[in-house]
Formats: sequence, C-alpha cells, structure tokens
Amino acid sequence: MNSEMRMTLTQFLIEERRRYPHAGGDFNSLLLNVALVCKRIARKVAAGELGGATGSASNVNVQGEDQKKLDVISNDLFIEGNNWGGYLAGMASEEMEDPYQIPECYPQGRYLLVFDPLDGSSNIDVNVSVGSIFSVLRAPASDRPVTVDDFLQPGTEQVAGGYAIYGPTTMLMLTVGNGVHGFTLCPQVGEFMLTHSNLQIPPDTHEFAINASNSRFWEAPVTRYVDECMAGKTGPRGKDFNMRWIASMVAEAHRILMRGGVFMYPRDSKDPAKAGRLRLLYEANPVGFLIEQAGGRASTGRQPVMNVKPSSLHQRIGLIFGSKNEVERIERYHNEPQQHDEPNPLFTERSLFRQSV
Ligand code: AHG
Ligand code: MN
Ligand code: MN
Repeated sequence: MNSEMRMTLTQFLIEERRRYPHAGGDFNSLLLNVALVCKRIARKVAAGELGGATGSASNVNVQGEDQKKLDVISNDLFIEGNNWGGYLAGMASEEMEDPYQIPECYPQGRYLLVFDPLDGSSNIDVNVSVGSIFSVLRAPASDRPVTVDDFLQPGTEQVAGGYAIYGPTTMLMLTVGNGVHGFTLCPQVGEFMLTHSNLQIPPDTHEFAINASNSRFWEAPVTRYVDECMAGKTGPRGKDFNMRWIASMVAEAHRILMRGGVFMYPRDSKDPAKAGRLRLLYEANPVGFLIEQAGGRASTGRQPVMNVKPSSLHQRIGLIFGSKNEVERIERYHNEPQQHDEPNPLFTERSLFRQSV
C-alpha cells in the first residue's frame, strides 16, 4: 500500500475519539503535539554532525550522567512544543530535577506529560537508533501548581504511552490502552502513517538482551536464566538462543515489539543506592504499557512493573520485559524458594558468566 492510501496519525486519533463521545479534544491535541516534537527531534538527530548538535553539553544531569547537546535540545523541544496547549498541568523529564510548571500565561490542563526526551543518547555519536519515550497521566488537580506527588502514580494509571524511534525510518509507537499501533513517518508528506496495527508480541522467543558486563552483580535468578539460555540445545531449555544488546532501550523495545524477545536490565548489586538502571516513570512504565498492550509482559522480576507505586520522580527500577512466557519464567525463578541464591554447581562450573561466590 502506498502512503497516500494509509491513515495518518491525526485520522487515527480522531476515529479513536469517536468511540468515546464525551471525550474532549485536548487528549488528541496533546498526542499530536508530542508527535510534532518527535518529528522535530528526528530532524535534529538525522542531521548528525552537520546540525552542529552532537557531543556533550558539558553538564551533568540529575541522574549524574553526562548530558549530550541533543538531550538538552530534545528536552527544550518537548517543553516548548507542549507548554502552551492548555491540555497539561505539568511535565516531568529525565533531564529536569523538578517538575515543570505550566507558565501562568497559558491555561492549565487535565494531563501530565512525563518523558525521556532522548533515550540511548550515550550512543548518539555512533549513529545507532535512539528515541523519545513518553507517558501521559491524569493530573490530580489543575487549579494549583503541580507537585512531585502528582506524578507518583503507578503505570496502571497511564492513559497513553509510547515512543518515537529515530532509526533508518522514524516511527511512532503508541498505545492509548486499546492495543499498540505503529506509525511510520512519511518523509514526503511529513506525517506519521499507520503501518502497524494491533501489534502482537510472540509469547515464545529464542532471543534475549542483557548487558552481560554486569553479570558479576546479577541476582541468582537472572544468572540462572541467562546460563540456561547460554547452555543452548544441550542445556535445560533444549534450544539455542541468540543474544542482542544495543544499549538503547527504545531500539530493544522496538525489536521486541516487532519480533519478540526478552530484555533485561534487572536489579543488581552494582550500586546499592540504585535499585536498577532504568527509570520507572519515563522509561519502564511507558515501555511496559506498550509491551503489555501487545500481549507481552513487563516486570521487575517480582511483580508487574506497572503495579509499582513510585516513591520519587527519578526512581530507578529493575526491568524485564518481552515475550510473555519468558518473562513469566524469569518471574518464577525470582519467586521460587531460594535454592538458586546459592550458586548452582552445574551452572557455576559451566557458566560463562560465573557468579562470584
Ligand atoms: P538514557 O540515554 O536516556 O540515559 O538511557 C540509556 C539507557 C537505555 O537506553 C539503555 O538500555 C541503557 O541505558 C544502557 O545502559 P548500559 O550503558 O549500562 O548498557
Ligand atoms: Mn533513557
Ligand atoms: Mn535520555
């Protein structure tokens, strides 16, 4: 089908809204403006060195991470593209310590927008796929300034979640709680076109993704799972697995939405002050919402990640998501009595990722 025949994101959202006769138009305005921001970021990312925006911003963000110029630019684009619309009560971002208040010159709205303006940005200079992740919550009140507490809602409360991926093609993947739909940016028309309706993640897979350089910090259930995958056909799983690690979660989530697989950035003992690497509100929850809406599962290893009541804006969490049967297996390993917390001689001896004892 050529792009003239396809439905645009705008048409898709208008048709979705017709199913809810009482819905106002502000939710659609919000999503369309987020999409517009993503188009702008896509152009900046695509320009690379020619755009003069590569490299470090010579600043450390609230995460203690080196900010890239494109992190800062993308954050500003999200703010400026959404603060005027009248649909938001506030915003929160990976790149800002505190919530952003909608300026008094603009009307205050009913929603909160939470985002990671550029995910995978440590890879931006090596030209791999990066993306923007966003989550929409209802604002508890719109007649007063937003507080941190307003944002501390479990992922189950999200009314929309999605990401844009800036890869060989730019795509927007979106859920409003009615399946996952993928839109490809048509470079000729400059519109997101519906190309992937109702994505479904296969429940089984032979592909997993984990940063194996952290293996000495993993908990026993994770070591067990990875060891079993690595043992391949002659091991307990009886089949060979393939491994991937892009170090850009958006790109990993996209692969998993397209063909299945399992992603793990589990809780580990690397830094006792951090329960995991990824952030709950603007990484784990929106990706979890997409994955679950596509029939997959997103977990901390111990419970569905979207059930976790956040305790702080930039809270980190262990995250495991992807093909349902694999994620459930990993949860089972976490929930089984602790025989596997002791090093399992079979796997300790044979393990490539040997656990320290
Ligand atoms: P961000 O660029 O927004 O800080 O997020 C990067 C995240 C995520 O995209 C990726 O999965 C992970 O960091 C990679 O971490 P490692 O460098 O530890 O592999
Ligand atoms: Mn990120
Ligand atoms: Mn980021």
